[in-house]
Amino acid sequence: MARRTMTVNGRTMTVDVSPHVRLLDYLRQQGLTGAKEGCAEGECGACAVLVARPDGEERTRWTAVNACLPPALAYEGQEIVTAEGLGRAPGAGREGDLHPVQREMAARGGSQCGYCTPGFVCSMAAEYYRPERAGAADGEAHSHEVGPNGFDLHALSGNLCRCTGYRPIRDAAFAVGLPEVEDRLAARRTLPAPPPLPTWVVTEDTEFVRPASLAELLDRYAQHPEAALVAGATDLGVEVNIRHARPPLVLAVDRLPELRTLDVGPDAVEIGAALTLSEVEHGLAGRVPLLEELFPQFASRLIRNSATFGGNLGTASPIGDSAPVLLALEATLVLASAEGEREVPLADYFTGYRQTVRRPGEIIRAVRVPLPPAQHSAFYKIAKRRFDDISSVAVAIAMDLDGDTVARVRIGLGGVAATPVRATATEELLTGAGWDAQTAARAAATLAGEGTPLDDHRASARYRTAMLEQSLLRFHAQTQPSEALEVAR
Ligand SMILES: Cc1cc2nc3c(=O)[nH]c(=O)nc-3n(C[C@H](O)[C@H](O)[C@H](O)COP(=O)(O)OP(=O)(O)OC[C@H]3O[C@@H](n4cnc5c(N)ncnc54)[C@H](O)[C@@H]3O)c2cc1C
Ligand code: FES
Ligand code: FES
Repeated sequence: MARRTMTVNGRTMTVDVSPHVRLLDYLRQQGLTGAKEGCAEGECGACAVLVARPDGEERTRWTAVNACLPPALAYEGQEIVTAEGLGRAPGAGREGDLHPVQREMAARGGSQCGYCTPGFVCSMAAEYYRPERAGAADGEAHSHEVGPNGFDLHALSGNLCRCTGYRPIRDAAFAVGLPEVEDRLAARRTLPAPPPLPTWVVTEDTEFVRPASLAELLDRYAQHPEAALVAGATDLGVEVNIRHARPPLVLAVDRLPELRTLDVGPDAVEIGAALTLSEVEHGLAGRVPLLEELFPQFASRLIRNSATFGGNLGTASPIGDSAPVLLALEATLVLASAEGEREVPLADYFTGYRQTVRRPGEIIRAVRVPLPPAQHSAFYKIAKRRFDDISSVAVAIAMDLDGDTVARVRIGLGGVAATPVRATATEELLTGAGWDAQTAARAAATLAGEGTPLDDHRASARYRTAMLEQSLLRFHAQTQPSEALEVAR
């Protein structure tokens, strides 16, 4: 039988491990102890490494991911670079030299205890090699979040440091230049990423399968509807690490070509369920403004580099952030099973707490979003932190106006019921009404009554209700001519 391998820092390594071994543990067992475990739930970035991901058919994008969440076997045949490999690989020069991002971190005091540093340098390196950064590196300070070298600090939003303070880290990020011509990791971007390999590993208590095709996946899933599907593992990995889930059969769907297409047609965009949120963000390039608002508010860049729409809707969490947005966009889901495909409006998909209309053996193949997008839209995620936090309440609104009259409006809500819901009473009140302050006030009061919010550790029911009301008033203010009101975002 062929050896199972992956390439780490340019070396081929055997990966004969149990499906329960995480990528982080595997790397550390190989002596690559730079990547650390801080939280084991995707929150701190101490475990970040770089992976070679497809950037179109022919190119590679160095992408930072959390190694604490996915099984090592999910990376069979793939190419990984850790903080140790960064120091050796690129145009920094000789073996043992520091990579430019490591050099700047050292020079500017970006590391004290060093626990977070390997993770930070991997996230920084991904941004260092982001092809679009070169275009933004014009020597001008763009904002407090994008440096004169085009470095977008959001690349580091999934990395926490508890002792250095972020100022020196930011200084280091804004000081790195562009990759030099002899930089091997930069050159690697012009070649295709490694293709996915079919994987099948059986041990005493578990089985991991990466099927070669959608047909094979659906066949296996029909026979074993109890199997756990895994895409980015940002939910499943937390279940495994924190709640000790040990699924006896895991079916990997993340690299199936049929789940990784992004088709923009005249009437709709179809988003493959296994594309990562970062890939969708990049591929859509702002075509759907409401999705564009969702992306930066969804977890961190590290998580978005793995998380998928299929996983977010697959868990059917009432506080998942994609559902309210996709409800406001009137999205439909393409569900596939061995029997064939069917299309279900997202509004009919959720049937109860983490329950859906998905039948045994059925997966989400794609999400369809009708075009053109509404004239006005907004996504309000109310959480304790602005970034990388779980929603207490989420409100997505998409509205078309005909003059001053509301021609059409769709409102999706999260965090106010056992499932994500559409605010149909508010939609009804608004449709055909004049879009003025009085209507907005009436609609806000109606919206406050939609859903059945609960008290929990994140927020009280009263707070959630108040946030519903405020969101609609805020949306009204934001859709007024610019001189009317400047709303702090
Ligand atoms: C630190 C952190 C921050 C997070 N922040 C947010 C946030 O801000 N907003 C938010 O909404 N979520 C957040 N999440 C949750 C998670 O990232 C998302 O739910 C993500 O979209 C899951 O996608 P995945 O591909 O990683 O799913 P996986 O973990 O791979 O899969 C989760 C489950 O989804 C199902 N599934 C996967 N693919 C399919 C498919 N194609 N068809 C049917 N079922 C499928 C399976 O049942 C699987 O068990 C966060 C998670 C972490 C760890
Ligand atoms: S250990 Fe904290 S994100 Fe992985
Ligand atoms: S340097 Fe100590 S946690 Fe960041």
